[in-house]
Amino acid sequence: MPHNPAAMKKLFIKTYGCQMNVYDSARMADLLAPIGYAPTDAPQDADMVILNTCHIREKAAEKVYSELGKLRDIKIERDGKMVIAVAGCVAQAEGAQIVARQPAVDIVVGPQSYHRLPEMIAKISREKGHALETDFPAEDKFDALPERSSQTGVSAFLTVQEGCDKFCTFCVVPYTRGSEYSRPVAQIEAEARRMTMRGVREITLLGQNVNAYRGQGPDGETWSLAGLIRHLAKIESLARIRFTTSHPRDMSDDLIAAHGDTEKLMPYLHLPVQSGSDRILAAMNRQHTRAHYLQLVARIRAARPDLALSTDFIVGFPGESDKDFADTLDLARQVGFASHFSFKYSARPGTPAASSGGQIPEEVKDARLQALQSLLLAQQRDFNASCRGRTMPVLFEKKGRYASQAIGRSPYLQSVYVEGSSGLIGEIRDIRIDAAFPNSLKGVLAESCVA
Ligand code: 5AD
Ligand code: SF4
Repeated sequence: MPHNPAAMKKLFIKTYGCQMNVYDSARMADLLAPIGYAPTDAPQDADMVILNTCHIREKAAEKVYSELGKLRDIKIERDGKMVIAVAGCVAQAEGAQIVARQPAVDIVVGPQSYHRLPEMIAKISREKGHALETDFPAEDKFDALPERSSQTGVSAFLTVQEGCDKFCTFCVVPYTRGSEYSRPVAQIEAEARRMTMRGVREITLLGQNVNAYRGQGPDGETWSLAGLIRHLAKIESLARIRFTTSHPRDMSDDLIAAHGDTEKLMPYLHLPVQSGSDRILAAMNRQHTRAHYLQLVARIRAARPDLALSTDFIVGFPGESDKDFADTLDLARQVGFASHFSFKYSARPGTPAASSGGQIPEEVKDARLQALQSLLLAQQRDFNASCRGRTMPVLFEKKGRYASQAIGRSPYLQSVYVEGSSGLIGEIRDIRIDAAFPNSLKGVLAESCVA
């Protein structure tokens, strides 16, 4: 690693989209550190800019091109002395079209090829051309990526699985991230142990389809996500485990049981349902029905009664009638979600639903989104309000806006802040919740309460 700070080049990474991109951005920073790149927050000063992109909906993909336009202007001001790289799912999906649309781009690198970045940087400085890498190479990118990680803090992401074989008809992920791959248990455990040595207390296991995890165990057998979670729970300094994102079809009996028997597994589950209508679920190729989802929820709640759920919904999928949408509202009412994400259907090139009939007008999508969100935001407010008066363990992550505040997370991922010592960071304390807001809770240390 170069020690002369003047010789350090500056690297600016902008991350769009999901948590897996957040994880990947940290790994790219790790990869480029030994060849002299240090992070900066300012793209104007950067020698290299990476946009780690998201292709899931049209809006996300279009943002990239407007950002690239701004970067081109900076690059011109700096006499071309800036390397612009596009990484992530837009890179995978659009490849050479990106350079055609924005010639200031030097490097296009798909999510399975990040370990090739140093080679690609060397290539463009040698040959003064562009470099493009969007294969799904046979080697394991995790083996090729460096051991250390620039992720710091109390809570961290750890990718355990990538890709998806489900092929929901609206989704680009099976095309941009490729088929399912699970990292071996030993590799994940080693990374988790390194994280905890740096002070991480909570790990969120990531995968596009994380509960389809089938990784090689230390015994040579194939392990499930439940096996992996129970194994990681033995790491003493690791206090909390979460996982995301799950598919209802892969909520196996042992994973449901793990919610009941593994204390470190937090009682909060993100389980996307997308729609409450059987007709639409079938057209989406979700491979489960409404009844199956409701039954799953009942079984998970039986295993862990204090568990809270969050979900994803899409409104305005092609062919969605008023009755289908009413079924979605009804499912939301039946389940009661603590939190949610909801989206207007966005036709993605190359996916089956994009070319199907019955596309829904934008104003209908808008109205449905608004109706769904007002129901679900009310559920979130009710859930937060139900926490008032309860005492819950909070893992403190950072200082608040004022010096004396500390902010942490409840078991249900709610932001909780307390007035008092910011020395709580990294610790889990029982907090009595005394105020609830739509997006956060406020509390006091339980031991300082006069009951
Ligand atoms: N249009 C709208 N929302 C989508 N999602 C995935 N693809 C699309 C699309 N084409 C949503 C789903 C998924 C979440 C990550 O993004 O709800 O669960
Ligand atoms: Fe996309 Fe998830 Fe369906 Fe896979 S399971 S295709 S990632 S929505």
